[in-house]
Amino acid sequence: MDKNFLWGGATAANQCEGAYTEGNKGLSIMDVMTNGSKTHKRLITDGIDENYYYPNHDGNRFYEHYKEDIELMAEMGFKCYRMSIAWSRIYPNGGDKTPNEEGLKFYDKVFSELKKYDIEPVVTLSHYEMPLHLVKKYGSWRNRKVIDFFVTYSQTVMERYKDYVRYWITFNEINAIEFMPYFPAGLVIEENEDRNQVIYQAAHHMLVASAKVVQLAHRINPNNKVGCMTLFGVNYPRTCHPDDVLKAEFTNYEFLGIPDVQVFGYYTDYQLSLYKRKNVKLVMEKGDEEILKNGKVDFCSFSYYMSMVQGEKRDGETHAKGNMVAGLENPYLQSNEWGWQIDPVGLRITLNYLYQRYRIPLFIVENGLGAEDVLLDDGTIHDDYRISYLNKHLIEMKKAVEVDRVPLIGYTMWGWIDLVSAGSGEMKKRYGFVYVDKDDLGNGTYNRYKKDSFYWYKEVIRTNGESLK
Ligand code: BG6
Repeated sequence: MDKNFLWGGATAANQCEGAYTEGNKGLSIMDVMTNGSKTHKRLITDGIDENYYYPNHDGNRFYEHYKEDIELMAEMGFKCYRMSIAWSRIYPNGGDKTPNEEGLKFYDKVFSELKKYDIEPVVTLSHYEMPLHLVKKYGSWRNRKVIDFFVTYSQTVMERYKDYVRYWITFNEINAIEFMPYFPAGLVIEENEDRNQVIYQAAHHMLVASAKVVQLAHRINPNNKVGCMTLFGVNYPRTCHPDDVLKAEFTNYEFLGIPDVQVFGYYTDYQLSLYKRKNVKLVMEKGDEEILKNGKVDFCSFSYYMSMVQGEKRDGETHAKGNMVAGLENPYLQSNEWGWQIDPVGLRITLNYLYQRYRIPLFIVENGLGAEDVLLDDGTIHDDYRISYLNKHLIEMKKAVEVDRVPLIGYTMWGWIDLVSAGSGEMKKRYGFVYVDKDDLGNGTYNRYKKDSFYWYKEVIRTNGESLK
């Protein structure tokens, strides 16, 4: 791999920081999401209800443990760390006149600690997080006013941290809005609302906000690199029947309709035709087209957990489970304990698919395996299944880079340290190289333990991928 390849790990503020009211932080959309499980969906409550446990209130307590955690990253040899800033720490209510200095100071400390070890921060401005007040008062991204609040927040942090951060990502997975609108956009669709109209209009506001922030980032420092971040895994046809092929290909287009705007600077004809079919009347203001055109991203980052299968469902055939959304079950693949299908070759196909479409550098900012790990009495965790999963994916990634010549900036393994699952709110769905002693209800010491995969990844980084086999 290139000597500058950014090996690292990823987290999101709301899933790891905890300290949900410390340092004047405001409530965020994730602070009113209860815990869930494989069988029970997480609930969104109206404010905080004492009858429930809210796992993001504690996260994995990165807020207290950040020094120790960054030291662990450094021990593994991380070149970069994908993290996010909690908007509600900086502007507790979203529209406050001045930013919250205590919140800013927390990230000053995090960035200077990263710098101490030469770890490059890759910062997402909104990773499934926004001040709850913006939802209550303005209806979240339904409302165009939220664009200005987001731009002000972004400007505050991009200026404050301009000496520390080169890589910015505007939003995490705007395209998840189609499946779980609360996560990327804080949207709860009311019964009397037209779902499609609401989500695509909200997505438009986010796209305008994203494009404005790209321009701002380039003005603040021409060396800034700004990316979009998309949820994507390639869709396979169920058979070679042309109807199945068509369905798979069109599903790919539908997943990419939103990042297309961030990369190309305009809505594709396919996406506009989709809106027409869905009877969506996009309200664009004068100047929006120009903003989108001038706010193209520098790189495309994405999360890859699985490929999907599309086509006519036959009697007895089942749907796979998956990250937000899933297709039919693929009989050639195995699944993890949460039913997500494991497909390393799909990562190589996905990398090629995205690069052929976008022709700009890519960045894998999420990939990993959620599993139930066992902490033994001697403090060890033998996660050979995780090593095997990652090893296979990284081998395919290497082929995409070295054989197929896909330009790839880096790879950040999702949940490099155990954190709260976004989908289920569980703690026992563990992704990390580092185990955190916390259970699904928040009990535990929050002590950190190195898993076997910790030492394995350290060697991968040390050898710049040569140890993969
Ligand atoms: C990604 C999200 O899509 O999936 C993360 O960006 C999330 O925030 C990850 O944690 C894995 O999903 P889950 O439900 O296993 O946490």
